[in-house]
Amino acid sequence: MKILFIGDVVGSPGRDMVFEYLPKLKDKYKPHMTIINGENAAAGKGITEKIYKQFLEAGAQVITMGNHTWDKKEIFEFIDDAHNMIRPANFPDSNPGKGIVYSNFNGKEIAIINLQGRTFLPPVDDPFKKADELIEEAKKRTDVIFVDFHGEATSEKQAMGWYLNGRVSAVVGTHTHTQTADERILPGGTAYISDVGMTGPYDGILGVERETILKRFLTSLPVRFEIDKTGRTQLNGVIITIDDTTGQAKNIERIMINEDHPFFS
Ligand SMILES: [Fe+2]
Repeated sequence: MKILFIGDVVGSPGRDMVFEYLPKLKDKYKPHMTIINGENAAAGKGITEKIYKQFLEAGAQVITMGNHTWDKKEIFEFIDDAHNMIRPANFPDSNPGKGIVYSNFNGKEIAIINLQGRTFLPPVDDPFKKADELIEEAKKRTDVIFVDFHGEATSEKQAMGWYLNGRVSAVVGTHTHTQTADERILPGGTAYISDVGMTGPYDGILGVERETILKRFLTSLPVRFEIDKTGRTQLNGVIITIDDTTGQAKNIERIMINEDHPFFS
């Protein structure tokens, strides 16, 4: 089976890219399942119920989150009913929502897990220990396990990739908004990439207006982040092919769509 994963969707420029290109990507790659990281989908911080539903209507099956999960207060009203949304599983157990979801395709079950790193990010529970726990649970139902590891440090993400090597089908990194070119199949059959990259503005700095970020670096003064809406946009993702009888990944291919890397159907 093939899984399409679209990296961190940032604000309306990112959402528009999803709506425009998801049908084209589905035509081209024919994925059996689409997962979107939506933690920056509402003006760069968090997600609303309306956007969550729009992503499902656009053809995604699962939405993953990250460190901005709680930024839009309305999430507390709908997350427990948002059956296809997961937030990092290693948030404290008392938090609303869940960190693992099972999705079905043609009678085959797939487990999707969201975890968050602890390096250069707010403190959360141990993602490695939480991964052990959830994989043990998931293995009772399926060998196809997909992990979105939301983290800042490449070292922590590589560590997670190797830690889960042979135990899950894929470990894809999110959060840095910059796609890495280190995609590979680890020896145990786990597809890995340190960061999928982001979907949204192409000419901002990680999706934010350039002038704002430059001002911060040049003056060290606090600034208010606004999504760059000056024009050009991009979409970053990966398509992963998995042997659904063994759960082992066979291939991982990066997707990068922008004016410098145009989409070919
Ligand atoms: Fe993030």
